[in-house]
Amino acid sequence: MKVGVLTGGGDCPGLNAVIRAVARRSFSRGSDVVGVREGWRGLVEGKFEPLGPREVSGLLPRGGTVLGTSRTNPYTVDGVQAVLENFQRAGLQALVAIGGEDTLGVASRLHAEHDLPVVGVPKTIDNDLSATDYTFGFDTAVWICTEAIDRLHTTAESHNRVMVVEVMGRHTGWIAVMSGIAGGADMILIPEQPITVEAACAAIQHRHERGKDFSIVVVSEGYELTYDSGERRQVAQEAASTDQFGHVRLGGVGHELGAEIEERTGYETRVTVLGHVQRGGSPTPRDRVLATRYGLKAAELIGEGRFGQMAALQGDDVVDVSLAEATAELKTVPEDWYAVAQAFFG
Ligand code: F6P
Repeated sequence: MKVGVLTGGGDCPGLNAVIRAVARRSFSRGSDVVGVREGWRGLVEGKFEPLGPREVSGLLPRGGTVLGTSRTNPYTVDGVQAVLENFQRAGLQALVAIGGEDTLGVASRLHAEHDLPVVGVPKTIDNDLSATDYTFGFDTAVWICTEAIDRLHTTAESHNRVMVVEVMGRHTGWIAVMSGIAGGADMILIPEQPITVEAACAAIQHRHERGKDFSIVVVSEGYELTYDSGERRQVAQEAASTDQFGHVRLGGVGHELGAEIEERTGYETRVTVLGHVQRGGSPTPRDRVLATRYGLKAAELIGEGRFGQMAALQGDDVVDVSLAEATAELKTVPEDWYAVAQAFFG
């Protein structure tokens, strides 16, 4: 059997660990493995490279993806036919698509509409895929953000400042909530539970009135500035257009929020935007293990001919769920998780 592997969407730590695990399990089953370059673009344009034992050696701790990635959507570039033809031409009998809602959404459609023999592996630092408790890459991002918050604490305290930390999370506040709880944030603003700017400032003021001279505010890039008047405003990069999946490039809400806090409370405020640092570097041990388990599961699903499925974590077990279910809707932060964070606001 010839198994193709692709990585699509934003990169994240652990992609290479999945590639390694898929390849190692496939080799031991007697299959050949082919890397598809740059996500779905590789299938649209016919870009492949053989992956042998040498190519997958040393990948476990390595960040990024050795296959490259892109946000190419075959459905918006009229590339579906090319995907199907190149898949045949390369002699592939199965495909592992490693990605988030966009990449796996395409996989799900190609399976449903064209019977493409594909299985999925859930990747995204945002942790917003349904039907799995965790995606790999998330733990590493949370670890990076928590470390940053710890470091900001000491400088905030020394200068009696408010520190605003903007973290990623396009549609959901998973990174903000988890790193905020772990780092002891005094206010966390996320898209799902949009506390108003006025209420956030009042909570910060309350904290300072009870004797604390500094505050840490964590904000998700996807939080819309929300006001008591009912006004809501998303902050995006000005010149950026949408990508092939219709997403605008977010970023900048931290600076606007910081200016609001300083003006409304009078407390000196500084802003840190963590940006792509959150996606870089080596995966945590937890992400290496999760990625490895997902990769093995994907290769097993292929061996069993169970296409249209995705490896998923439920509790401590790696199971499989349908791609359709996993991509039907985003997994948002539930209220009880946010309540844990809220217990320490203000
Ligand atoms: O999807 C993961 C993610 O890191 C989001 O959190 C973020 O909004 C987006 O990707 C950034 O994309 P890009 O790398 O294209 O700027």
